[in-house]
Amino acid sequence: MKFFIDTANVEEIKEANDLGVISGVTTNPSLVAKEGRDFIEVIKEIASIIDGPISAEVISEDHQGMIQEARKLAAIHNNIVIKIPMTAEGLKAVKALSKEGIKTNVTLIFSANQALLAARAGATYVSPFVGRLDDISTEGMQLIRDIVEIFKNYDISTEIIVASVRHPMHVLKAAKLGAHIATVPYKVIMQMIKHPLTDAGIQRFKEDWKKANLKI
Ligand code: E4P
Repeated sequence: MKFFIDTANVEEIKEANDLGVISGVTTNPSLVAKEGRDFIEVIKEIASIIDGPISAEVISEDHQGMIQEARKLAAIHNNIVIKIPMTAEGLKAVKALSKEGIKTNVTLIFSANQALLAARAGATYVSPFVGRLDDISTEGMQLIRDIVEIFKNYDISTEIIVASVRHPMHVLKAAKLGAHIATVPYKVIMQMIKHPLTDAGIQRFKEDWKKANLKI
């Protein structure tokens, strides 16, 4: 499973990129708004840091408007992927954009049927939101299990990005289910790195080394 970072914060993106584990970035309107910066500038800056797919979301609700915004965003850099909400208008936009060779990430997926439709419309990626399903007492990971199975049944090449990831257990379960990608907030990446036995192990090695008065 590959990792994308789910943020519009360039400092977090730089930090995560230095770890060597990130192959893409996802943003959404809320994440961009949190930064209080110009949208296009933020996307340009992200594209200068990460050499991989960068999802930027459209705001229009009609397919013509989505297509216009998508063309503008796609012109920023070859790596830009257009995030389109899962609606009938969104599917029309995905169909048109895929014919133009513009990559799409269909977002706000909450059912396997939505994922299947998005894939058939030509989506490069689908983003099922596990955390928001958990929030309403519905098992988010069941959705991932279903989409993985359906896409396997029909050899569908659309990649599954597990989104709305809230903690390391979401990442572990997504990987066990065979999802292609998890888009993970910076905080969760840092949580995944940490283990108390690793910290205790480093501490003990240091103490033993010091006692023996050794040098490198
Ligand atoms: C990414 O593609 C999604 O927009 C994001 O993961 C949503 O996360 P949230 O449900 O924590 O806002």
